[in-house]
Amino acid sequence: AWSMAQFREAEVARIREQVGDGRVVCGLSGGVDSAVAALLIHEAIGEQLTCIFVDHGLLRQDEATQVVDLFRGAYNIPLVHVDAGERFLRALEGVSDPEAKRKIIGRLFVEVFEEESEKLEDAEFLAQGTLYPDASRACRRGRASVTIKSHHNVGGLPETMKLKLVEPLRALFKDEVRALGRELGLPEAFVGRHPFPGPGLAIRIPGEITPEKLDILRKADAIYLEEIRKAGLYDTIWQAFAVLLPVRTVGVMGDARTYDFVCALRAVTSTDGMTADYYDFSHDFLGHAARRIINEVRGINRVSTTSPPSPPGTIEWE
Ligand code: XMP
Repeated sequence: AWSMAQFREAEVARIREQVGDGRVVCGLSGGVDSAVAALLIHEAIGEQLTCIFVDHGLLRQDEATQVVDLFRGAYNIPLVHVDAGERFLRALEGVSDPEAKRKIIGRLFVEVFEEESEKLEDAEFLAQGTLYPDASRACRRGRASVTIKSHHNVGGLPETMKLKLVEPLRALFKDEVRALGRELGLPEAFVGRHPFPGPGLAIRIPGEITPEKLDILRKADAIYLEEIRKAGLYDTIWQAFAVLLPVRTVGVMGDARTYDFVCALRAVTSTDGMTADYYDFSHDFLGHAARRIINEVRGINRVSTTSPPSPPGTIEWE
């Protein structure tokens, strides 16, 4: 069998041969794939690599800081952190259609990335953490000429960028990327992270996105994930996340009437993200997580759980 140690060695040699003494820019998303790609390339060519992290302000709680700390701190890899949150929010103002959101975010992401990479004048190569299923997923989504969702991720920067592509993970599946990450010494907490969509929390807030809603969702999501970790369920679940519904309902807190948002909790099992089943929590677990969210997050007074497998549901709500 082809071990990850062998893959690492062969791929490092291949990257050196492809790149020579050229400069490489690598797009980081905050997720596992792009982090593993960057580490592998850094091992191959060291200082010739610069990472660009376009932070769209739609990541989970603390995620942006963790990426920056890991790359600048632990690995000492040159990293440009573009704090573009306000720009993305402005572009998304008043937009509630899911496909419109996806397209705006995808387009702006490319625009910001291009602006930054052009500043690195002698960059010749573009590295991305594209995986094998990234390409094949496009096929499922395009079935019967109906676009269900237009995916966007850092593996999808346009070829018009005139940079030559370096895609060291393009033959791998998610579990293999994780194994390679471990082989490269990436911390377990990072390696095991659930997949996260390119458009981020924007597609977990049906309807219009506001800074207030993002803030509420981040807090609820962090509590939900904390409880899942505490219960030892994180690694059994493919993806778990909170969704903030654009619906207010009446509740009571102490003696006061509340009129706040509803939060939905989603968790699925899957092996490739193409099809998925819902994860069946115990009533105790759900009751406890819901109580904590309602008690600790201002702005949510009701929690609901949902259970469609995919298909007919999709994993993400938008
Ligand atoms: P759906 O919701 O289509 O999601 O069942 C399948 C898997 O893909 C992830 N996903 C995305 N990943 N860019 C990505 O990089 C995207 O635009 C995107 N949309 C969905 C989703 O989180 C799940 O793992």
